[in-house]
Amino acid sequence: MSSVELQKRVLSGMRPTGKLHMGHYHGVLKNWVELQHDYECFFFVADWHALTTHYDDPYNIEQSVWDMVIDWLAAGINPGSATMFVQSHVPEHAELHLLLSMITPLGWLERVPTYKDQQEKLKEKDLATYGFLGYPLLQSADILVYRAGQVPVGADQVAHVEMTREVARRFNHLYGKDPGFEEQAEAAIAKMGKKNARLYRNLLKKFQEQGEEEALETARALIQEQQNISLGDRERLFGYIEGGGKVILPEPQPLLTKSSKMPGLDGQKMSKSYNNTIGLREEADEVAQKIKTMQTDPQRVRLSDPGDPEKCPVWKLHEVYSDETRKKWVQEGCKSAGIGCLECKKPVIEAVVEEQRPIIDRAKQYEDNPELVRSIISEGSERARDAAKATLEEVRQVMGLSFGS
Ligand code: TRP
Ligand code: SF4
Repeated sequence: MSSVELQKRVLSGMRPTGKLHMGHYHGVLKNWVELQHDYECFFFVADWHALTTHYDDPYNIEQSVWDMVIDWLAAGINPGSATMFVQSHVPEHAELHLLLSMITPLGWLERVPTYKDQQEKLKEKDLATYGFLGYPLLQSADILVYRAGQVPVGADQVAHVEMTREVARRFNHLYGKDPGFEEQAEAAIAKMGKKNARLYRNLLKKFQEQGEEEALETARALIQEQQNISLGDRERLFGYIEGGGKVILPEPQPLLTKSSKMPGLDGQKMSKSYNNTIGLREEADEVAQKIKTMQTDPQRVRLSDPGDPEKCPVWKLHEVYSDETRKKWVQEGCKSAGIGCLECKKPVIEAVVEEQRPIIDRAKQYEDNPELVRSIISEGSERARDAAKATLEEVRQVMGLSFGS
């Protein structure tokens, strides 16, 4: 894999929190399903991450892992397009985490906003642990071990990707300049041939002296086109333009996921902790029941009382599921007391059930065949491991650990 191809590698993970709900579907999974067509995707179950906060009750993790993997498959993640795996099946994450811990200043970890926030929020747990403090660095290792270019995350996780960039920069700075780096880079330039070498030097100058980002892009593409230089030389040339050493661990970009518009049954954000969810694979009857009993505008006591959709959580569902014509029907019918609340809810129930039907169908073949799910994960973990091993080999080498084994 070359650096440019790696820029197109996507990695994301989710903690195994048990069965997923429609908020996960609209917020994360639909996005993953789209990404898998355009990028080389790695999606993993972050079981070690679950232990950073739930070390005292690990018993549900296993069931949660399998439930979540079935949810992913049901939502349309295709194991033929995306690599799906479980974090703890790829011990290279842990090895890289350990090695990165050597160079990570404590202050960087203490400064991560989720550190103090979560400790506050989960007061009942003792989170004054080494593992919990280090969890953003474990996340950095998750990302860097695949040299992923893009990391789809929600807004709350952007700080972690930022820290990952800092860790990668520090790593490359410390270990990217093997002795004789400049000479080797110059030798690599010479291998490109006169014309390309001249072009490369010009672009280098433009970027370094005038800060032209475009020159950087062009230079990258130029390096990419070279047939007769080794992968190592390529990395050297990439690093040389930016004035650093070899880029061993490229800096990833956060790919900010639009926040889900899917409201919970009470109109707040859908979340397990608010007890307002519709499960991803919930039975149609249950879905209907849940929506039928949803609160509406409290002013609408009787059918003849006009209501205000802005004060009603059902309206928020219409915003997700209804077209303009139907939204108009709700607005007018509600304000004029022309429609009843049950009537108003009916098309929403149908839309949710319709959306879930293919999901539930797809889930069946996996629910009935746990072996199939296991084999998807074991193949995915193997593929992930191959990619991770390649990175670790290089990391060990630059950190002075490549003697014997
Ligand atoms: N920390 C993430 C969360 O709580 C999950 C996660 C772990 C992750 N490792 C990751 C996300 C790597 C993206 C990339 O949601
Ligand atoms: Fe809510 Fe619809 Fe009833 Fe109006 S008519 S209060 S929008 S459920």
